Amino acid sequence: MNESIDTNTDNRRVLSGMRPTGKLHLGHYHGVLKNWVRMQEDYECFFFIADWHALTTHYDAPETMNEHVWDMVIDWLAAGVDPEKATLFIQSHVPEHAELHLLLSMVTPLGWLERVPSFKDQQEKLREKDLATYGFLGYPLLQSADILIYRAAHVPVGEDQVPHVELTREIARRFNHFFGRGSEFEERMDAAIRQMGKKASKTYRRLRQQFTEQGDRDALEEARTLLREQQNLSREQREGLLGHLEGRGVTLLPEPAALLTEAAKMPGLDGQKMSKSYGNTIFLRDDPKRVEQAIRVMPTDPARVRKTDPGEPEKCPVWSLHKVYSDAETRAWVEDGCRRAAFGCLDCKQPLINAVLAEQEVILDRARPYESSPDLVREVIAAGDKHAREVASETMTIVRESVGTIYR
Ligand code: TRP
Ligand code: SF4
Repeated sequence: MNESIDTNTDNRRVLSGMRPTGKLHLGHYHGVLKNWVRMQEDYECFFFIADWHALTTHYDAPETMNEHVWDMVIDWLAAGVDPEKATLFIQSHVPEHAELHLLLSMVTPLGWLERVPSFKDQQEKLREKDLATYGFLGYPLLQSADILIYRAAHVPVGEDQVPHVELTREIARRFNHFFGRGSEFEERMDAAIRQMGKKASKTYRRLRQQFTEQGDRDALEEARTLLREQQNLSREQREGLLGHLEGRGVTLLPEPAALLTEAAKMPGLDGQKMSKSYGNTIFLRDDPKRVEQAIRVMPTDPARVRKTDPGEPEKCPVWSLHKVYSDAETRAWVEDGCRRAAFGCLDCKQPLINAVLAEQEVILDRARPYESSPDLVREVIAAGDKHAREVASETMTIVRESVGTIYR
């Protein structure tokens, strides 16, 4: 998270998205969705289904998109994301994202995209797929468009996505540099720069350009020092210039900040991180009978062959789940009873089964009306699409004007 350049302290807009890759599991719930549900109370939230992003890697499975998209919307609603509080929409229903992506691409150096860690990582990981595509290279740039088109200040994401938000900041800065229109602020800053004297103002302009065009952080630091040393600037001028230096003031597209989701790694049924590719998941809307059965057959500390053999919770995947679901009292009961062989593993699992099922009962209850009338889900999305499109269109009007493609 980069707090040092938070340009939008009163901008409470939050944007985040998920690729529709199938039913969500408890890892998504504890890692992401609970956080969204909290945020919708205090922020103006936009949450969207990144269906175009899914196509960058799953272009060979278009027939799965429909089911995955609606499953995901229902999972969000079931988790407590509230369409009265947050705007839920589908990326491809707001084609303005694609237009902004195209315009951003005009000033995006290829090297910036090639250097994004996920580009090479995913190519390596998904070897069987041809990801040497234009669409895949542009993945993080499309994400930048997603964020910038809502002029969002905060982007809640996991650690793997932080480089994408960083890229977004750099792209915004560069876009603002080329297309940000001169304003009254610009004129005032111009006057302040001239007031610094010939030599200092020349240095300032050079350093600022190095930062806004190349993202050169050393130049930024050097310029800050230079400004601090200027005796003949007023406080307002100095503060204005500190912002101007970072491309602020000409906030055609404001720079967002990543809001790192401190996801407690949700353990799966085998103790590894819960993930669909490991087949160790409990789905958000899983069948309670399957959930119970899956926990009953979970592996435990192998030392506990018989009920009378003592065990060690730290060697047991069930214990990892207790850490997420059980209160201090239950956890103490587990640690003690396991080490003393006071009860069997099935006894130990029972409070866990109860806790997961209780959590899911609420989720299943919320899902039920949407599952039984799909029209309700379509309505939620239609309303969200409409609102998202209004906001996105406002940005695009300004952007089209700025890039010079409005002809009168
Ligand atoms: N790349 C994100 C992921 O895989 C999904 C995403 C697309 C996203 N656009 C976004 C997340 C914009 C946050 C903001 O999880
Ligand atoms: Fe694991 Fe509980 Fe069995 Fe100990 S008693 S091995 S913590 S399931």
